[in-house]
Amino acid sequence: MEKTILTGIRPTGRLHLGHFFGATKNWVELQDKYQSFFEIADVQALTDNFDNPTKVRENVREIAIDLLSIGIDPNKSIMFIQSMIPEIAELTIFYSNLVTMARLYRNPTIKTEIAQKKAIFGNHGESVTYGFVGYPVSQAADITAFNGELVPVGEDQLPLIEQCREIVRKFNSIYGDTLKEPEPYLSKTTRIKGLDGNDKMGKSLGNAIYLRDSEEIITKKIMNAVTDSNKIKKNDPANPDKCMVYYYHQLVNHTNLDVVCSECRKGSRGCVQCKKELIAHMMNFLKPIQEKAHYYENHPEVVDAILLDGTKKAQKVAKETMKKVKKAIKIDYYS
Ligand code: TRP
Ligand code: SF4
Repeated sequence: MEKTILTGIRPTGRLHLGHFFGATKNWVELQDKYQSFFEIADVQALTDNFDNPTKVRENVREIAIDLLSIGIDPNKSIMFIQSMIPEIAELTIFYSNLVTMARLYRNPTIKTEIAQKKAIFGNHGESVTYGFVGYPVSQAADITAFNGELVPVGEDQLPLIEQCREIVRKFNSIYGDTLKEPEPYLSKTTRIKGLDGNDKMGKSLGNAIYLRDSEEIITKKIMNAVTDSNKIKKNDPANPDKCMVYYYHQLVNHTNLDVVCSECRKGSRGCVQCKKELIAHMMNFLKPIQEKAHYYENHPEVVDAILLDGTKKAQKVAKETMKKVKKAIKIDYYS
């Protein structure tokens, strides 16, 4: 039997290159090797967007469109909406007894995220909610509801998987062997830098290229990307390793990368031309994705049918898990 993978994504915005090269590109390959569950984590998105339900609602379908367009195949894998699986919420309640507040506050992912909130909101960052601090518990429910064995995540999420493993061990030791202990699946993905050279590409940082950005938008963004600041005149030699334009050439230019590099170093290449070439390569790379996305944008009913079908399949699996869990906790009344 093939192993089961489960991973999730928060529907808070469309996919950008950071998501693609950092995670979802891999999901497309994994679905050939594993029974794959891809969760659109709307409940988790609400933990810090509870006051903006419209944003979460709208992005569920947008994320689904993006995932289908990059090649997530509903015939191979199960894509579903988290909130439509009430068992996840139920499991969260039972797991919450197995986790101390101290342990949650010590979770490095939570710690970092709280620190970021404080940095952004000042003292308002102090008002973190119960739901937010508890989202690792809910994420453990996400994983175990579907017997997830491997969880493809980035390094920043490793503490969440560790927390899930602890919950599983505690559950099994108290209630008997019931749940599977998952393992993180770290893949050879790369964290993608932003157009501004920031280590992370992110929506809130305003330095992202989205998979569905138009040529006009991409032109604007690339024309403003950070280049080697020592290059003033067109024929000054420069260091491509200090240039975000070259950085993106490396991602999407599979034809004349060496030339770009050597010409930049020699000073025989102007940045404007170099950027224009990158725009062409970028559009080439995005074109097949955007064509598929265009189809799904025009056929929202197809997207909804895929989501509904995936969610029904996911519901079946979660129901089975719930039965076992209730039996183990001895709350399987009248069944
Ligand atoms: N926390 C993940 C993120 O922010 C998303 C996610 C939700 C997830 N549920 C999951 C990842 C379950 C792995 C497993 O990227
Ligand atoms: Fe960057 Fe190209 Fe300019 Fe070199 S020539 S600094 S790689 S934009």
